[in-house]
Amino acid sequence: MSTVPREKKPRFTLRPEVLLNSLRLRRSVLDTYGQKNLYKFIIGFNLFLISIGSLFYTNDLVSKLEEREIRQMKLYAEGLRYALTSDFNEDLTGIMQIIREANSFYEIPAIYVDDNNMPADKINISFPENASPETKERILNEQLSQMKKEHEPIPVEMGEGRVGYIYYSNSFLLTQLRYYPYIQLSGIFIIGFLAYLSFSAARRAEQNRVWVGLAKETAHQLGTPLSSLMAWIEYFRADPDFDPSIADELEKDVQRLEMITTRFSNIGSVPTLKDEDVAAIITEFITYLRKRVSTKVHFFIDNQLPEGHKVLLNRNLFEWVIENVCKNAVDAMAGVGEIRISLVPKQQGEIVIDISDTGKGISKANLQKVFNPGFSTKKRGWGLGLTLAKRIIENYHAGKLFVKSSEPGKGTTFRIIMQSTPAPPK
Ligand SMILES: Nc1ncnc2c1ncn2[C@@H]1O[C@H](COP(=O)(O)OP(=O)(O)OP(=O)(O)O)[C@@H](O)[C@H]1O
Ligand SMILES: [Mg+2]
Repeated sequence: MSTVPREKKPRFTLRPEVLLNSLRLRRSVLDTYGQKNLYKFIIGFNLFLISIGSLFYTNDLVSKLEEREIRQMKLYAEGLRYALTSDFNEDLTGIMQIIREANSFYEIPAIYVDDNNMPADKINISFPENASPETKERILNEQLSQMKKEHEPIPVEMGEGRVGYIYYSNSFLLTQLRYYPYIQLSGIFIIGFLAYLSFSAARRAEQNRVWVGLAKETAHQLGTPLSSLMAWIEYFRADPDFDPSIADELEKDVQRLEMITTRFSNIGSVPTLKDEDVAAIITEFITYLRKRVSTKVHFFIDNQLPEGHKVLLNRNLFEWVIENVCKNAVDAMAGVGEIRISLVPKQQGEIVIDISDTGKGISKANLQKVFNPGFSTKKRGWGLGLTLAKRIIENYHAGKLFVKSSEPGKGTTFRIIMQSTPAPPK
C-alpha cells in the first residue's frame, strides 16, 4: 500500500503578516506577566514605605508627648513639694485641689507615696462606683506596682532627708498613640490581603470563562468543516480513479482533527470521568509517540500498579496532558536521550506518575514560570502546553501536576498525582 510522503502533503503557507501578528500577541502575553510582577513590586514597595513612614512619624509624636507627660509629672511633684513644705499653717486642701485639677487635663494616672512608703495622694485614678475601702486599696496597690514597672519615680524632696516619690503611668492618649500605627497597619494589610484574594479570584474566574469560551467556540467551529471533509473522503472513495491509500491517509488526519475537536469540546464543558486503565492509556500513547520522534529517543515505562488498575479520568484530556509533558521532554533532549515514565501506587488512594527526561533541564529562575501561560523558551512555542496540562489535572481531575526536580544539563522530572479509584468490593 502506498502512503503519501509527509513532505508532499499540501501545507498551508504562513503569510509574514500572520506570523508577525502572532509574535506580537505572544510578546504582549509575556509582557503582561512581566508587568504584573513589576506592579506587585511597586505596590509592595510603596506599602513598605508608607508603613515605615507611619511608624517613624507616630514614634516621633509619642516621644514628644512622653516628654510633655514627664514635664507635667515634675510640675505635680513641684506643687506637692510646695504644698507639703509650706510654712503656712493653713488648710492645704484648696492648693491640692488646684494641682489635681491642672493634672487631670493630661489624664496621667499618678500616685504619690510619702516618706513612710504610704500612698498619700493620687490623681486620675478612678474606682468602680460603690467600691469598698478594701477594694479601693487593692486597686490602688495594683496600679502602684504597675506604675513601678513603667517609669522611674519622680522624687519629692521635703527637706530634713524626707523624700516621697511620684509613680505614674502613661496617659490613655499616649498608650493609644503608641499602638495606633500597628493597629492601622494591620488593618491596611488585612484589607489589602482580602482585596488581593478577591481580585485574584475574580481574575481566575474571568480566565476560566475565556478558556472555556474559546475551547467551546473552537470545537464548534471545527465541527462543520470536519463533517464536510468526511463527506469528501467518502466521495473520493467512491471514485474508482482515486487512489484509495490517499483516502486512508486523509481519513487518519481527519480522525486526528476529530480527536482535537473532542479535546476542545471536553475542556469547554464539564468533562465526564470514567474508570480507565491508566497504564494502558500511557503505553498506547507512547507507542504512538515513539514512531513520531527520533529513534535515538528511548522510552521506558515502569508500571508498578496492580494489573488493570483503574483511575477516574477523562481519557481525551488525560492523553492531552501526557502528550504535552512528553513532547516537552522530547523537545528538551534535542533528539537523543531517555524518557522514563513510572506509575507507582501510594497510600490514601493516590497514584504517582513521574515523567523523567535526560534533557537540558530547567534553570532555577524559570522553575516558577513554566506553568505561566505564555512562558516559553522555544522559538516556536506558545507557552500553553503546561498551563493547559495543569488545568486539566488540577481543575478537572482534582489531582496535582508540578516539577518534582530539575537539574540544568541533566534532566527534569514532572510529577502527576491522581486519585485512584478504590477497588470494588468482592
Ligand atoms: N521537560 C522539560 N525540560 C526542560 N524545559 C522544559 C520541560 N518542560 C517544559 N519546559 C520549559 O517550560 C516552558 C513551557 O512549556 P510549555 O509546554 O507550557 O510551552 P512550550 O512547550 O514552550 O510551548 P507549547 O505551547 O507549544 O507547548 C518551555 O518553553 C520550556 O522552557
Ligand atoms: Mg509544550
